Amino acid sequence: DPRQTVDQILSELLLTKKELKEVMGRMQQEMKKGLQVETHEGASVKMLPTYVRSTPEGSEVGDFLALDLGGTNFRVMLVKVGEDGERGWKVETKHHMYSIPEDAMTGTAEMLFDYIAECISDFLDKHGMKHKKLPLGFTFSFPVRHEDLDKGILLNWTKGFKASGAEGNNVVGLLRDAIRRRGDFEMDVVAMVNDTVATMISCYYEDHSCEVGMIVGTGCNACYMEEMCTVELVEGEEGRMCVNTEWGAFGGNGELEEFRLEYDRVVDELSLNPGQQLYEKMIGGKYMGELVRLVLMKLVNEGLLFNGNASDMLKTRGSFETRFVSQIESDTGDRKQIYNILSSLSVLPSELDCDIVRLACESVSTRAAHLCGAGLSGVLNLMRERRSQEEMKITVGLDGGMKWFKERFHKVVRELTPNCDITFIQSEEGSGRGAALISAVACKMAARLI
Ligand code: BG6
Ligand code: GLC
Repeated sequence: DPRQTVDQILSELLLTKKELKEVMGRMQQEMKKGLQVETHEGASVKMLPTYVRSTPEGSEVGDFLALDLGGTNFRVMLVKVGEDGERGWKVETKHHMYSIPEDAMTGTAEMLFDYIAECISDFLDKHGMKHKKLPLGFTFSFPVRHEDLDKGILLNWTKGFKASGAEGNNVVGLLRDAIRRRGDFEMDVVAMVNDTVATMISCYYEDHSCEVGMIVGTGCNACYMEEMCTVELVEGEEGRMCVNTEWGAFGGNGELEEFRLEYDRVVDELSLNPGQQLYEKMIGGKYMGELVRLVLMKLVNEGLLFNGNASDMLKTRGSFETRFVSQIESDTGDRKQIYNILSSLSVLPSELDCDIVRLACESVSTRAAHLCGAGLSGVLNLMRERRSQEEMKITVGLDGGMKWFKERFHKVVRELTPNCDITFIQSEEGSGRGAALISAVACKMAARLI
């Protein structure tokens, strides 16, 4: 029965609760390794200290510039941090989106940062602010080993970036150099943060229980507030520090081998960074469409879909976009949406074909939702263990383009974290507000030192 064969092929994508617990346990193991001086170098999950601390210092008010590099769009934002009678603060933003040309992403670091400086210059012109030397917060969504809030080296590029001469260098230095090279404006770069951190901070100002930030977008990652005494790579025992887990790299020590399928291996081998970010490649939006395409091709080759014939378009790498996955899953039942998407790829599907394609999408995205749910559960259970709390009340700030599977994701997390009372909040303008707010705190602290 062909239908049974389809189900059998798709069921390989399903992870049982036992398997998800296994993933969670291994994630926790790597996290613990990543935090310890003696074992951190061999850990797949890098657990990078961010120098964002729990000590509330209050913040400056005024205008801040925020940059957001690493998601789908590069953005420049002007953020006004002000005082508000009730909440103690308010922020207002103006922003502009710039697309990064492919050659800037994969050329040299100088080209990339010159382009960024050019965009800032354009933004300042637009708002008549060229003359102002503003404090700047930089949301830079890649693994950075920080030495301080405004200093850290890029460990390796992830997602679609590959600009040469950046890895191993201080990212804030690269930005400052590019601004200096232009010479038509000045900026005071005060903080660099990961997008997960910016998300957490922006949500923290609304809900002080928000001590976890997570992105499921082009890539996938999370950060959380860890006890200083267990962040062995940073001196000091008091309070908490935010740790950027960089969990997208999970699997680098073979922890995912028995769960990775032929599709995952193809996606990895043809990526810009083979062998790296294996967990992220099973979840992130950069890869999901292609995973679905490979599953569909498998079904075609087995004669189970489209009468065994795929169009040239469907045979082409990258032709099945991740947004199609969410669009197909939101089809209301008349198959119109599915039919349109498949026709745009030059395939003419039967009703049964449409249903199978939808099932394939659901299988791939459910696996992603469950896998990142297992990761987040690992983080939350570790936090509860550290805090020795019977019941931990916690808020998680979320952002990124992959919002459509969040119900499946929430459900798994709640199943895997008994004794955690979790609130999920969606961050709004997270990276801009977060980068500006942390810059405002940094400015206040700097002012105090003077
Ligand atoms: C945005 C955040 O909303 O989500 C960014 O403001 C973040 O900082 C982005 O990088 C991630 O989502 P995507 O889907 O654009 O990668
Ligand atoms: C990648 C990056 C990480 C970022 C995530 C989400 O995993 O390495 O720093 O947070 O994508 O954008």
